[in-house]
Amino acid sequence: MDRLKELYNYSAKEYNNYMQRTGNILLQKLILEKITKFLDTNESLIDIGTGTGNIIYFLKKRIKSKKILGVDFSYKMIKIANKKTNASFMLTDANNLPFRDFSFDNVLCSYCFSFFEDVNAVIKEMTRICKKRIILIDKEIIYNHIPRTEMGKYWHRVNYKRVRKLIESYGFKSIRIEVRKNDTIFAIVFDRE
Ligand SMILES: C[S@@+](CC[C@H](N)C(=O)[O-])C[C@H]1O[C@@H](n2cnc3c(N)ncnc32)[C@H](O)[C@@H]1O
Repeated sequence: MDRLKELYNYSAKEYNNYMQRTGNILLQKLILEKITKFLDTNESLIDIGTGTGNIIYFLKKRIKSKKILGVDFSYKMIKIANKKTNASFMLTDANNLPFRDFSFDNVLCSYCFSFFEDVNAVIKEMTRICKKRIILIDKEIIYNHIPRTEMGKYWHRVNYKRVRKLIESYGFKSIRIEVRKNDTIFAIVFDRE
């Protein structure tokens, strides 16, 4: 875990450039435009594994709620995020979130599951702090280039069918939305029943 955190710190700047260069930010905007229709703009939101803050940067412009927070365990990622927008960011581990049960209306997580070492633990935390809705964003095939780097050793393919079943077992129902534009980006929106 410490080495992985080190790698994220080391690659934060490159990750930020990569997201711009490859058009991923544009793709994320397209899916977020679809998602914001589900959100009440007064609702609170947390972005887990916020990285360099692109999702928060976009949502901050569209959501009125003052309680919008991005969290990440890499201080270098958070440092870049902080320069991007005046939203709040916090350094913390997704496996052990320092928030009470049902603290946030919306819990979002984008492009992270392939790199979470313990997906089950993160899901447990997400469902615990979520009051209304969980939103997962990912690409059909993501980070093709990464397995060739050291970071690649930590990469794993996510079985979203299993993830969907697991989150639903905590009392949620879900729908899947996608946008196809060169790559396919998708969001799974889970509503608490
Ligand atoms: C691929 S980036 C995704 C960043 C951002 N969500 C996006 O859509 O561009 C994955 C992020 O998850 C963070 N991360 C990985 N494991 C984590 C953990 N256990 N707790 C908190 N953040 C974590 C990393 O530091 C990194 O910023």
